[in-house]
Order: sequence, then structure tokens, then C-alpha cells
Amino acid sequence: MAYNLLKGKKGIIFGALDERSIAWKVALKAHEEGATFTLTNAPIALRMGQINSLAETCGAEVIPADATSLEDLESLFSRSMEVLGGKLDFVLHSIGMSPNVRKNKPYTDLNYDWFQKTLDISGLSFHKVLQTADKTDAMNEWGSILALSYIAAQRTFPDYSDMAQAKSLLESIARSYGYFFAKKNKVRVNTISQSPTMTTAGSGVGGFDVFFDYADKMSPLGNATAEECADYVVMMFSDFTRKVTMQNLMHDGGFSSSGITADLIQELNR
Ligand SMILES: NC(=O)c1ccc[n+]([C@@H]2O[C@H](COP(=O)([O-])OP(=O)(O)OC[C@H]3O[C@@H](n4cnc5c(N)ncnc54)[C@H](O)[C@@H]3O)[C@@H](O)[C@H]2O)c1
Repeated sequence: MAYNLLKGKKGIIFGALDERSIAWKVALKAHEEGATFTLTNAPIALRMGQINSLAETCGAEVIPADATSLEDLESLFSRSMEVLGGKLDFVLHSIGMSPNVRKNKPYTDLNYDWFQKTLDISGLSFHKVLQTADKTDAMNEWGSILALSYIAAQRTFPDYSDMAQAKSLLESIARSYGYFFAKKNKVRVNTISQSPTMTTAGSGVGGFDVFFDYADKMSPLGNATAEECADYVVMMFSDFTRKVTMQNLMHDGGFSSSGITADLIQELNR
């Protein structure tokens, strides 16, 4: 059911790769709720072409941008304002990639060039997005900017490797930039820490099926799905959350506050 929560709002959605992507679900939901937006992804991801069907459904223009390139980001923001006919109300950063994880490098034998890439793509790019939005004066008052995080920023999940550092960086950037953007024109900046979700980025982490199951049993409400994450993102883009800023918001079915659950005890007793 749609509530017109984003009627008249304009934005940019990064990171829709295929139908499983969290950003894909956000785009569908934001469209349903009345928003207009542009879609963007790294040029190499766009070559797969799947995003075009999403763009058609949502009536969105697709603008290529490598989120680590300031030049790409500047043209993305100016083109988005041009096609949408004004400043923006929301931005979703839904980007993550670690060459060390992708190439199965153990955490105790990291390739440091790749580590830098992980931090640049998955963490620093959020600062670049924020700074570009700021310098191009792209955000309307009471706008909302979000990035997606994972609880490995606070707790150790061995196979999450250097992505844990990238997520800590991401969350810290939301707090720091959130201050400046609030003072500038009341724009809020937050991260949502999402349950493990079956997507390309998620399932690239070693042992993903097992820790997806573990998290599901450790969460009294069960893992939050990508669709449920999209609902939360839409709420955070809406006018109902105007004073929420500089937060890392847990969207995990209660996982982060649970010590143990009956489901897990039963599993361990087997
Ligand atoms: N899937 C999970 O279990 C899970 C859990 C918590 C948080 N998250 C986070 O959610 C976000 C979205 O991931 P997803 O699970 O939907 O997977 P996904 O693989 O569908 O999305 C990741 C996106 O990052 C994009 N990307 C990579 N490098 C880029 C670059 N240089 N410039 C621009 N875009 C680039 C990819 O093309 C892809 O679209 C990520 O930040 C991820 O870490 C995922």
C-alpha cells in the first residue's frame, strides 16, 4: 500500500545492480511513494544493463558515476538537478566492495592496495558524495542522506574482513558530516545498519549462508529483508523523521540487542 510519503521529493539512488540489490527495492518503493529520482552506478556495473528495466519502471534517467571520482560525482549531481528540475531532497549511498573479500584474501594477509580500494569505494566515497552535494548546493532544506552499513563496524565477523573498517569509517563520516549539513541547511545524514541480506555484495562474504541463518535465529523478529530495508529508507527520506540525524540506525530484527535466543539454544542443543 502506498502513502504518498515522498510526493514531490527528488533524489539520487546509488547502487542498484540487479533485482536483489537493496537500492533496487528502494527505487521501486520510492517510486511507489511518489518520488522522482535519477539512478546511478559505476560504469562497469551499468554495462550489465539490468538497471535499464528498473529505470523504465520508475521513469528515471540512469547516470553513470564511479563513486570514488569527484569529477563523476559533480556531473551526476548537476545532471540530476537538471533532469529533475531543481534541488534534491534525498540521496541513498548503497555501495560496497572489497577486492580482498572478493579475492578471498585472509584478514591476516591483506593486500594493502586493495585495502585502500575497499576504504575508498565503501567508506570514503560517502564523504565524496556528501561534499559534492554540499559544494554544488544540491540539497533542499530538511533533505535526508543515507548510507547502508553493517554491524561488523562494531563487532567482529571474521569473514567480513576489511569491510569492517570501511563500515566504521562510513558510520563515522555520517556523524561528522551530519553536523555540518545540519548547520548548513538542516539536512540530516544517517546510516542504516541492515541485517545480512541475499544480494551480490552480501553473498560475496565467505560463509554467508551460515551467518545469514545464525543472524536470523539471533534476531527475535528474524532478519530484516531488502524490502523491509526499503520501507525504512523511505521513512527516513520522508518528513516524519526530520530531527533524526548523525545516527547509525539498527535495522536488524533485534539482533544487536540479543545475547542469545531460544531458537539458537535449540539449534546448539541438536
Ligand atoms: N547484503 C547484505 O548482507 C548487507 C548487509 C548490510 C549492509 N549492506 C550494504 O548495503 C549496500 C548495498 O549492497 P547490496 O547488499 O544491495 O549489494 P549489491 O551488490 O546489489 O550493491 C552494491 C553496489 O555497489 C556498487 N558499487 C561498487 N563499486 C562502486 C563504485 N566504485 N561506484 C559506484 N557504485 C559502486 C555496485 O555496482 C553495486 O550496485 C552496501 O553498502 C552493503 O555493504 C549489505
